[in-house]
Amino acid sequence: MDERVLELYPECGNRHALQGLYLTRLPDSGTSGIAPFIYTNYISSLDGRIALPVPGQHTHQVPAATTNARDWRLFQELAAQADLLITTARYFRQAAKQQAQAELPLGTASEFDDLRDWRKIQGMSPRPDIAIFSASLNIPPDTLEQYRDRKLYVVTGAQADQGRLQRLSDTTGVQIITCGNGHQVEATHLRARLGQLGYHRVYAIGGPAVLHTLISGNALDRLYLTTAHVLLGGTEFDTFVTGPQLAPVRAMPLRTMYLDTSTPGGAGQTMAIYGE
Ligand SMILES: NC(=O)c1ccc[n+]([C@@H]2O[C@H](COP(=O)([O-])OP(=O)(O)OC[C@H]3O[C@@H](n4cnc5c(N)ncnc54)[C@H](OP(=O)(O)O)[C@@H]3O)[C@@H](O)[C@H]2O)c1
Repeated sequence: MDERVLELYPECGNRHALQGLYLTRLPDSGTSGIAPFIYTNYISSLDGRIALPVPGQHTHQVPAATTNARDWRLFQELAAQADLLITTARYFRQAAKQQAQAELPLGTASEFDDLRDWRKIQGMSPRPDIAIFSASLNIPPDTLEQYRDRKLYVVTGAQADQGRLQRLSDTTGVQIITCGNGHQVEATHLRARLGQLGYHRVYAIGGPAVLHTLISGNALDRLYLTTAHVLLGGTEFDTFVTGPQLAPVRAMPLRTMYLDTSTPGGAGQTMAIYGE
């Protein structure tokens, strides 16, 4: 079987190796010309599910029917280009219960050595820094230990519990970024704040509430979306944007689309890039 992916748009018919497909040098500023460039990536089923409940656990995970090594490689290639990741407190709460599906990229797996080498050649730090969205500030301190080689930030709203924030900062060394007047992060000034801190390429790997926050604050430039050609059904699930209806809607024109017929077996998947 031909393991390459078929380009469907804009140049229909070209075939590409999967490895290296997303490893380009991304722009270093966003749509408005202001740094950073902010991008995200999801894998979804055909019926729009990115995560399903895990039986017996009060948690959701990406289902085995969609997750796959080829998409995971592209996820890591996108992370390789980032100087900062945006993730969520929920991830660290899952990690504390050994329910997180993987370590944050770029992880320690030897299969991604080439990506760490690539960063070195580009003059980048070995791994991207980490910004954690949280209103509750419920972030188990021990789970941050393994990431102490990177700069860690907590992004929260101005109404966050100041005592809790201080304790978190004292015990873990995280730096605090305040965006928004309430408890929740509002992203309107997030791009400017991250730009002031010197970031140029920010990869949002949180879930649907984070993505809604970013879109609402005009802080998303590009969406990478893998659609596994399977139907999952179910009544309880995550899709990749959740929150109040977006008005105006956010237009995300198609830039590129590839077809991967090899995975998942008997189904295949499309990899599409939308936005800037
Ligand atoms: N298939 C995929 O590609 C993919 C990608 C990403 C995630 N997922 C899955 O999607 C599911 C949901 O992910 P998730 O729970 O991380 O996503 P989420 O709904 O984006 O984030 C949840 C947590 O992030 C914090 N948060 C989000 N927006 C915030 C805001 N505006 N202000 C302050 N805090 C904010 C909150 O933390 P506090 O509660 O501490 O306030 C909240 O509990 C998970 O099962 C995950 O595995 C799938």
